[in-house]
Order: sequence, then C-alpha cells, then structure tokens
Amino acid sequence: MKKSLLILTGHSKGLGRAIFERFQSEGNFQIIAVSRSGLNIQEESLTQVALDLTDLDALEANLSKIFPTGQFERAILINNAGWIGEVKPVGRLHPKEIRKAMNLNLVAPMILTDAFVKTYSESNSQKVICNISSGAASKPMAGWAEYCSGKAGLAMFSKVAADDLSAQGFEVFAVAPGIVDTEMQAEIRTSDPVDFPALDRFKDFKTEQKLLTPETVAEKIFYIVTNPTLFADVVQDVRDFELP
Ligand SMILES: NC(=O)c1ccc[n+]([C@@H]2O[C@H](COP(=O)([O-])OP(=O)(O)OC[C@H]3O[C@@H](n4cnc5c(N)ncnc54)[C@H](OP(=O)(O)O)[C@@H]3O)[C@@H](O)[C@H]2O)c1
Repeated sequence: MKKSLLILTGHSKGLGRAIFERFQSEGNFQIIAVSRSGLNIQEESLTQVALDLTDLDALEANLSKIFPTGQFERAILINNAGWIGEVKPVGRLHPKEIRKAMNLNLVAPMILTDAFVKTYSESNSQKVICNISSGAASKPMAGWAEYCSGKAGLAMFSKVAADDLSAQGFEVFAVAPGIVDTEMQAEIRTSDPVDFPALDRFKDFKTEQKLLTPETVAEKIFYIVTNPTLFADVVQDVRDFELP
C-alpha cells in the first residue's frame, strides 16, 4: 500500500503534538513537521524542519524541504501553528508584534497552502488542507485584535481556496478546535484584566475543567481530514459533531 503524507505545523506541543501523535500511530504516514523547536524523535518516517514561521523569507527559502515529491495515498496539510498575539487593546499594539501575529496566523498558512497546491495539484492522492481556525474568527473578543483578525482572514482564505481548488480535487477546511488545554490557554490566563476583560471567564474554563484535551480534539481533526467528504462546509467546529 502507498504511504500517505502529512505536513503539519506547530507539532512540538499542544494541539499540534497531539495531532502529530495521532497520525504517527497510524504507521503509514510520512510526516513533515514544522516548528521552531523539535521533538526528540528519530524516525525514518519523520522529517522535522526547524523554522520560525513569522520569518517569511526563511519560509520561502525552505519550501522545497517541506513538500516532498512522490506518489501518496493521501496528502494532508494541517496549518496548526498559531499564537494568541499581543493581548492588548487597539492603540497599545506594537507594529512588530502585529506583523508577527499576522505572519504566523495568516500569511504563513497562505504561503504553505499555495505551495502545497503547486506541488500536488497533478497527483491522484486524496488532497486535504486543514487550517486550524478559532471561534475568534467570527466572534470579536476585546484585547484580541491581532488574533481575531488573523483567524478571520484564515477562515476567509480557506473559503476562497475551497472554491478555487475543488475542481482540482482539494478539500479545504477551517476548523475551530474549541477551547483546548494547552500552553496557549495558559498564556491567555496570564493576561492583564485591564487589557483583557474576559480574563475571569477564561480562568473559570480551567478551574471548572471545561477545557478539551488536545487528544480529544486531535481525534476529531483526524476524523475530518481522513473523511473529508462527510463534511460539506469549509468552516467546521469540532464541538458540532460527535465521533461515530
Ligand atoms: N488552545 C486553544 O484553546 C485554541 C483555541 C482555538 C484555536 N486554537 C488554535 O490551535 C492551534 C494550536 O494552538 P495550541 O493551543 O496548541 O498552542 P500552543 O500550545 O502554544 O502550541 C503552538 C504550536 O505552534 C508552534 N509555533 C508557535 N509559534 C511559532 C513560530 N513562530 N514558528 C513556528 N511554529 C510556531 C509552537 O512550536 P514552537 O514553539 O516549537 O515553535 C507549537 O508547536 C493554533 O493555531 C491556535 O490558534 C487553540
């Protein structure tokens, strides 16, 4: 049986690590994983590319390392790496941080999606692009201007890409993972309440154990990207369906 291919960003921790482990457990995926830091795993089926995805010149220079040529049963791109950005009201943001947040949450996934399409458009593989979005893509949250804007842009990009690419056999999704117990949530809970009025609500999510585990969410993302024809809409939320 032909191997399948997973290209995953942000595999070193949190949700991305759980997604990585879910695919690794299948045993038949060649995995290309991109984060700034790596995992201490040496396996023939894993290639780790150390990259800061806010550095778009470095990303462009490394694209050939990220997209191997060959024939694959499935080719799946999951743009998962993300950052909450500065948690501050508009008027107190910093240009460099605005740029970093938009590069990581929006521009790098656009560049990676475009390169994925260029590499695999002629292939007979099942081709799936999954951009990890957020409820914040459609719900404004005070203090999260950078994050909400990046994720809203990513959701719109996913919709346009789905239209552009359906004739070439690509399935495209923007998937909101719910509120997941990761370092990103821990970082959110360190926000200044003056800058982030919803802080107490986010602290309560943790103390009331309302956060989803990365493993639960990874299982649902795995289900979506390996059963893409069951999901008609581009925008998906893992909380909207149960696993069979
Ligand atoms: N947690 C939630 O409640 C939640 C809710 C909605 C959406 N999401 C989305 O889910 C995705 C995963 O979030 P998470 O909660 O798992 O976050 P996390 O625990 O902070 O992990 C983020 C991942 O992205 C990588 N990353 C961060 N900055 C990077 C950079 N500049 N270049 C390359 N890689 C970078 C990190 O690796 P390195 O540090 O090694 O680079 C890490 O592997 C994100 O897109 C996030 O927006 C999360």
